[in-house]
Amino acid sequence: MELPPHTAHLLIEQALQARRNAYAPYSHYPVGAALLAESGKIYRGANVENAAYPTTMCAERTALFHAVSEGERSFRALALVTEDGGSPCGACRQALSEFGLDLLILIADKNGNILETLPLRDLLPRAFTPDNLP
Ligand code: THU
Repeated sequence: MELPPHTAHLLIEQALQARRNAYAPYSHYPVGAALLAESGKIYRGANVENAAYPTTMCAERTALFHAVSEGERSFRALALVTEDGGSPCGACRQALSEFGLDLLILIADKNGNILETLPLRDLLPRAFTPDNLP
């Protein structure tokens, strides 16, 4: 399901703002995310790196975990902003898939240009989901 253009632009704007708070002293690759819940609320996230590198958390999961910890369970779209329009990493695809593969992913560059809009199911084919568990 497509997003109305004004909603898409609002979400990208929120992701751009989130990106400003990224803590990325090691990679110098700040990432911002904005997750639109079915409730209408938007949850933002940025990547937070750590001197012990694997401890780093991605922007998408920061946004997702915040939203879920606030009680949200259904999501409509996630906007992702990076320098070059990078795609969500595998771990973030999996984490997001827990709440539905119809989630719309908007990928934008640092200027807010939307480079791609596609459902999570296209980014994570043949996903392992809660349906696999008894
Ligand atoms: N990063 C994200 O925040 N999201 C992704 O989907 C890809 C990678 C971050 C992690 C790390 O802080 C930096 O980008 C470089 O990998």
